[in-house]
Amino acid sequence: MEAIRDGGVDELLALCGGGCACATCHVYVDPTSAETIPPISEDENDLLDSSSHRTDRSRLSCQIRLDDSLSGLRVTVAPED
Ligand code: FES
Repeated sequence: MEAIRDGGVDELLALCGGGCACATCHVYVDPTSAETIPPISEDENDLLDSSSHRTDRSRLSCQIRLDDSLSGLRVTVAPED
């Protein structure tokens, strides 16, 4: 989430600042990157259920900690609910 915002993407609201409480950092992970990201937590999964735009590629970007193993990760910002 921070990397997206630092990149100047204004569409990503991230209203709770990364607290896994708002789902406004919803992104779709590119299928080529889906297996490299950490598994979804129960809290993240529950919060994503509140989105009408959820797909099998949905994640909350604030819950993905970037490191070298995720180099090249591609995501698309989901539509706002
Ligand atoms: S910034 Fe609120 S859930 Fe990610």
